[in-house]
Amino acid sequence: MRFDVLTLFPTMFAGPLNESILKRAQHAGHVQMHIHDIRAYATDRHQTCDDTPYGGGAGMVMKIAPLAAAIRDVTAQDSVQPHVVYVTPDGEPLHQAMAVQLAQRPRVMILCGHYEGIDERVRTTFVHQEISIGDYVLTGGELAAMVIMDAVARLIGGVINADSLAEESHSDGLLEYPHYTRPAVWEGQAVPEVLASGHHGAIATWRRQQRLLRTAQRRPDMLKRISLSATDRKFLSEHKLLE
Ligand code: ADE
Repeated sequence: MRFDVLTLFPTMFAGPLNESILKRAQHAGHVQMHIHDIRAYATDRHQTCDDTPYGGGAGMVMKIAPLAAAIRDVTAQDSVQPHVVYVTPDGEPLHQAMAVQLAQRPRVMILCGHYEGIDERVRTTFVHQEISIGDYVLTGGELAAMVIMDAVARLIGGVINADSLAEESHSDGLLEYPHYTRPAVWEGQAVPEVLASGHHGAIATWRRQQRLLRTAQRRPDMLKRISLSATDRKFLSEHKLLE
């Protein structure tokens, strides 16, 4: 899969995309991440990319011309048409199913806005999907783009072990169970006995119950959306966690 990011601040991407799993995923050829500087497409002497808003008001708006030229030029750099995403606080909130869908696309282009945002006509002309990473406002779309790239890249085949994806938080509507490693006792706190029992059935049951407990306590909204087995329901009602 290929990502193309259009940004006024390309150097912001160097650290996060070139460490750990994302670095390995790129080296192994699972994902390509191309960062493009929108300013390179501005044609005036000062390479202006923003202007005052029509109708007045605070802040600046990113101009159409450099953005449109960047989108068109970068699109033409590959024969695959990109799915164009604009990251913005008024987009659809990001969730795991959305990341799964994006991971199936061969090419995703992400537009990063700054200042008050981009000229609306860029959105209506080029953008297929608008995504927010949460109900708060960042200084620009760059961190949001990196969050999306990280969440999507790890789902691409070969990037991480498929077993790790199976039982993680948000993969099937339940939060993850707690993890432990050596030592068996640390500052008086012991690892739950069942985990060292070697009894795989008992471990699986304990982990399922921990996932149910965590989800009921921390995210009752998620619990309402999934279908629970009779055993799950019995466990939760015993803990007075079923509404
Ligand atoms: N740009 C600024 N804030 C944002 C947010 N919460 N999500 C996506 N893009 C943004």
